[in-house]
Amino acid sequence: MSISRRKFLIRSVQCVLAAGFLPGLSACAERPVREQELTGDGYGGLVDVIGRQRADIIRYASLAPSGHNVQPWTVTIKSADNWIIGSAEERWLSEVDPRNRELALSIGAFLENLVIAAQANGFEVNIRLLADNPFDPELLSLELVNGKRVDYPLKRLFERRTLRTGFKNEYLDPEDILYLTDADDNFFYYPPESPGAEWLAMATVAAMEHQVKRDNVQQELARWIRWSEADAAKYRNGLTPESMDITGLAGWYVKNFYGESDVLGKDFRKATVERAKKQVAESGGWIVIRSDNERVGTLIETGRRFERMFLKAKTRSVGVHPMSQVLEERPWVEDVRKILGLESKPQFILRVGYTREYPLPVSLRMPPGEITYTSE
Ligand SMILES: Cc1cc2nc3c(=O)[nH]c(=O)nc-3n(C[C@H](O)[C@H](O)[C@H](O)COP(=O)(O)O)c2cc1C
Repeated sequence: MSISRRKFLIRSVQCVLAAGFLPGLSACAERPVREQELTGDGYGGLVDVIGRQRADIIRYASLAPSGHNVQPWTVTIKSADNWIIGSAEERWLSEVDPRNRELALSIGAFLENLVIAAQANGFEVNIRLLADNPFDPELLSLELVNGKRVDYPLKRLFERRTLRTGFKNEYLDPEDILYLTDADDNFFYYPPESPGAEWLAMATVAAMEHQVKRDNVQQELARWIRWSEADAAKYRNGLTPESMDITGLAGWYVKNFYGESDVLGKDFRKATVERAKKQVAESGGWIVIRSDNERVGTLIETGRRFERMFLKAKTRSVGVHPMSQVLEERPWVEDVRKILGLESKPQFILRVGYTREYPLPVSLRMPPGEITYTSE
C-alpha cells in the first residue's frame, strides 16, 4: 500500500471515529457549509454590480429544490433591477426529464424563493414569461420595483430541505393539510392505507425497479453523484451520500470507495430499490400536485405552488419527499391520472409525513458566480 493511500485510510478512520464520538461536529468536512458556499465565488463581484440586498435575493432563490440537485437556473443581470432567468443546458437531465418538465418545476421553485426574498426586502417583482417551451435558454424576465415590505421568516428558505427518512405512519391532520396547501384545489392528499396511497407506494417501487435497469438513467445519475468530499467541494451541485441518506458506516464507505462506475453496478441498483421500499413503507400518505396543462408558464406556476407549501412544512413537522419515478417511467406515467381519478396529469408526487427529527439541510449549492452572468 502506498504511503499516501495509507495516510488517507488512517485519516478516514479518524473521521469516522470523530463523527461517532463528537456528533454535531462535522468531522473532516472539507467543503464549505451552505452559507459560505452562497457567499463564496462571485458573491463579492455580484454585490459590486447590483448591491448586497439584491445579491442576497439571488442567494435565497438558489436555495430552491431541484431534481438531482442540478440547480438548472441561470440569472443574467441586464441591470440592477432587470434580470433574465434561464437554464444551463449542461444541467438538463435528458434521461429522466427529457421534456424539461421537472426543470420548469424547479425554475418555479427558484422563482418563488426569489419573489419571497424580494418582497421581504421591499420589492415587488414584475414577471414576464419569455419562453414558449422549457428548452428556451431564456425563460423569464424579472423587473424589481419598489413595493411594500412583506413580513416573511426568511429562515424558512435556509431550513427547507428534502427529508427521506424518519416519517411516522400517521395521517396528516386536516388542519395541517389546509394550512400547507392553502386549500388550493390542485393539491390532493392520499392518506395512509387509502387505495391511492397504496397504489402510489406500489407504483413508486415498481417504477424505480424499472428505472434502475436503464443504463442511460444510471449513467446520468452517476454524473450527478458527488461521492467524495473533494467532488462535492468542486461541483457544489448534485447529490452527496448525506443528501441521499446514505449515512453511518455505509456513508463513510461509499464516500471513500465509491465512484461513477459503481452506480452502474448490480449492488447499487439493488440498494436503490431496497431503499425505496423502506421509504414508501414509512409515510403519512402522499400529496399529489396537478396542473391544468403542461405549458411552460403553468409548470413554473406549479413549481411555485409546490415551493410555497414546502417552505411551510417544517413549521408543522411535516417531511416532504418528492418521488418522481412514477412520472418518469411508462406505463405508470400513463396510469397515474386514471388510477387517482385526476382531471389532468400530476406534476409532483410527494411522500409526506410527520417526522421525528427535522435536521438542517445537507444538500450542496453552487456559489453565485456560477449561476449569474452580467450581460455585457
Ligand atoms: C422537480 C423535482 C423532482 C424531484 N424528484 C426527486 C426524486 O424523485 N427523488 C428524490 O429523492 N428527490 C427528488 N427531488 C428532491 C431533490 O433531490 C432535492 O430538492 C435536491 O437534492 C436538493 O435538496 P434539498 O431539497 O434538501 O435542498 C426532486 C425535486 C424537484 C424540484
